[in-house]
Amino acid sequence: MCGIIGYVGTKQALPILLEGLKRLEYRGYDSAGVALVGDDAIRITKSAGRISVLEQILKHDDQAVTGIAHTRWATHGAPNDINAHPHTDQSGRFAVVHNGIIENHYTLRTYLQNEGVTFKSDTDTEVLGQLIALLYDGDLEETVRKALHEVRGTYGIAVVCRDEPGVIVAAKRGSPLLVGIGKGEYIVASDASAILAHTSQVVYLEDDEMVCVSANGIRTTTLEDIPVTKKIQEIEWTLDQIELGGHEHFMIKEIHEQGAALKTCMRGRIDPEKGTIHLGGIADVARELTRAKRIILTACGTAWHAGLVGEYLMEELARIPCEVEYASEFRYRNPIIEDGTVVIAISQSGETADTLAALEEAKQRGALALGVVNVVGSSIARTTDAGIYLHVGPEIGVASTKAFSGQVVVLSMLACYLGRRRHMSQPGAEQFLTALERIPEQVTTILEQNDACRKVAETYVDRDNWLYLGRGYQYPVALEGALKLKEISYIHAEGLPAAEMKHGPIALITDDMPVVFIATRGSQYEKIISNIEEVRSRGGRVIAIATEGDHHISQLAESVIYIPDTLEPLQPILTVIPLQLIAYHAALLRGCNVDKPRNLAKSVTVE
Ligand code: M6R
Repeated sequence: MCGIIGYVGTKQALPILLEGLKRLEYRGYDSAGVALVGDDAIRITKSAGRISVLEQILKHDDQAVTGIAHTRWATHGAPNDINAHPHTDQSGRFAVVHNGIIENHYTLRTYLQNEGVTFKSDTDTEVLGQLIALLYDGDLEETVRKALHEVRGTYGIAVVCRDEPGVIVAAKRGSPLLVGIGKGEYIVASDASAILAHTSQVVYLEDDEMVCVSANGIRTTTLEDIPVTKKIQEIEWTLDQIELGGHEHFMIKEIHEQGAALKTCMRGRIDPEKGTIHLGGIADVARELTRAKRIILTACGTAWHAGLVGEYLMEELARIPCEVEYASEFRYRNPIIEDGTVVIAISQSGETADTLAALEEAKQRGALALGVVNVVGSSIARTTDAGIYLHVGPEIGVASTKAFSGQVVVLSMLACYLGRRRHMSQPGAEQFLTALERIPEQVTTILEQNDACRKVAETYVDRDNWLYLGRGYQYPVALEGALKLKEISYIHAEGLPAAEMKHGPIALITDDMPVVFIATRGSQYEKIISNIEEVRSRGGRVIAIATEGDHHISQLAESVIYIPDTLEPLQPILTVIPLQLIAYHAALLRGCNVDKPRNLAKSVTVE
């Protein structure tokens, strides 16, 4: 969603801000803008549409060593030039960029209008700029602090003032914000990817913290003006990980990275020969976790699908009752959290607003709160009592791919770890971990079937409705395959447990309907073959994801993509790969913007 970048230093700010904005593009946005702090004025340039549009109207020789910039994903007010950030007060003395939502903006707007303030935009953010101007007493930091005491809602903000050039004041509540520490220069950003080209040293702000940044250094305080000493941390990711590196899209790059990424995810954590698993991030809570009476996995979107696989894994391997909850539902229900309940939030970005809120709710009710997160230092990671990082590297494509397989690998390791501590035999763990260790290489061999996946996409790309069906461990994969297809190709697709088809959706089957069956060998193989027959007898066009060597299925399906054999609980990590490829090719064939699908944002930081 929205992105913030701000620069203070000795270099020209504009090229740095523009480059930062481009690095933030992947988050999803509909307008962009820049504010440069000159000697006697703040110069704002902003426009609806892509950053390339902004670049066309910017004066590229504009000299300034301080500035803030923003990519906006509209919440309050249409995505047009006026509503784009930065927003100023009516005199143009202050400029603000803001991620999040000011919930009491209407009340504040009315108050300010009664004070004679005229508004230009429909946004909640403009209220902040106008309020800061009204309260200003010659000290930007102190005034921002006062203004934020009047505000309800969530924010990551950066503010500049014409009278205090060379200063950015930034603050955070519920929306990520960090400061990159360079040599004599500082970059405020909502996302580490925006600063990585300049520095990997970073300070993460916590909720209700503020930072005053100038070329002389940074001063961090709480909203109550209590000084805070911050630890400088190192960003783990490298610049080439967030660049295309010769690939046409981030999605295909990340699909191809999966073998290597999963290896990194497992590195140092599993020992198949001894049947042991080492998960350092949960060592401190291992005892409490092992005694869990119930596990709730909570997440959104693709991460929720990984959670569904996790439910099967926890129950089968660890023998712990497990449920999976949409974070957006969990947070507003009145969930029952008894002694021995462990809540695990799953999130690639670690910033998804609903997942974060669900985790906070669980903590408040006394649950042990864990995280399965990719982005180190993210809000969810910092909120948990303990957790396991994915370590699959940055995921830039909006369609989540390597994060899904990484989440399933982490949940597999966790389920086996708990199983081993409760009832699983050493040979059982050895067998499971040996199979898990082979997964990265098996993923890589599936990628060789790219052409076969493209062919499936070519054959059915003109159909507007697809069904994805699976049973057991493959049911979540069916949901994930359908989500991938719809979010990037805009083809309507539904995923279902295959047996549910007879309870309604079978009415949709015609000779025009592609039906993707995830029909690998396993405990429900014969059942799913019967479901395939049911679709065939109604003329449906069957595409099967099957186990290598299964020749019978090629007589039933029009197209078959084979995956190598593995243990049933690990099959989702393999079966999802062809579905990612099919979705990718379908989107390309339909001329869609694969990495930036319409209306979508990479991390959903508002409700
Ligand atoms: O960052 P998160 O894993 O918390 O994100 C959750 C969902 O927003 C995300 O998985 C979304 O569904 C993806 N676009 C799916 O590809």
